Amino acid sequence: MKFYVLTLFPEIPRAFFENSIMAKAVEKGIIAYEMVNIRDFAFDKHKTCDDSPYGGGAGMLMKTEPLCKALESVKVKPKVLDAKKAKKSKTKKSKRVIYVTPSGKPLTQKLAYELSQEEELVFICGRYEGIDQRIIDSYVDDEISIGDYVLSSGEIAATVIIDSVYRLVDGVISSESLEEESFSDGLLEYPQYTRPEVFQGMKVPDVLLSGHHENIRKWRLKKRLAKTLKNRPDMISSARSSGKLTQEAEQMIEEIIKGN
Ligand code: ADE
Repeated sequence: MKFYVLTLFPEIPRAFFENSIMAKAVEKGIIAYEMVNIRDFAFDKHKTCDDSPYGGGAGMLMKTEPLCKALESVKVKPKVLDAKKAKKSKTKKSKRVIYVTPSGKPLTQKLAYELSQEEELVFICGRYEGIDQRIIDSYVDDEISIGDYVLSSGEIAATVIIDSVYRLVDGVISSESLEEESFSDGLLEYPQYTRPEVFQGMKVPDVLLSGHHENIRKWRLKKRLAKTLKNRPDMISSARSSGKLTQEAEQMIEEIIKGN
């Protein structure tokens, strides 16, 4: 899978691609990336990349032409042209383009999984007050937000989305680790412990030292349910309405509510 990141500050997302598990995935050839500095496409001698909004208002917008040229440099075409070409030559539509913005749809594990199935993703990182609506209309497939708060720019948000997506690409991490994660089946994760057995006077729960697999499974399920009830009761409701809560889980929920 290949990520293209269109940004005025390539050093911010680049650090993520050059470290840890991502760096290994890049080395193995599972993931590729390209940083595109939008400023390289500015045409005046000051390399201006911002402009004032029509109609007035606080702040500046990203200048339209450099952004448009940056998109064209990675062979993204306006959607109308692209759809026509794809229909004519029966080829696939070109790269999926994501604009990261607090006004986008929320990033979820489900969306991250969907994006991980693409071969190429292009991210537009906004600065200032955002980008011209016509760029969104013409080039953007998805507007995505990482939460109901405003960051000073899109680089960190794009990096968060990329992190949630690339780790789901086949071969990056083991499918076993993915299966047991929070959100993979609608519940949060159970608590985990490692050495030492006693830490600051607190002992690892006996059941985890017992080697009794069935009891460990039950203990973990109950802990997951208790944590989800406490931190994300909305997830319990959705798991229930999508039929993901077994009889055993429902009984445990009753016990948790009664304080057992
Ligand atoms: N840019 C600024 N804030 C953002 C957010 N919450 N999500 C995505 N992009 C952003």
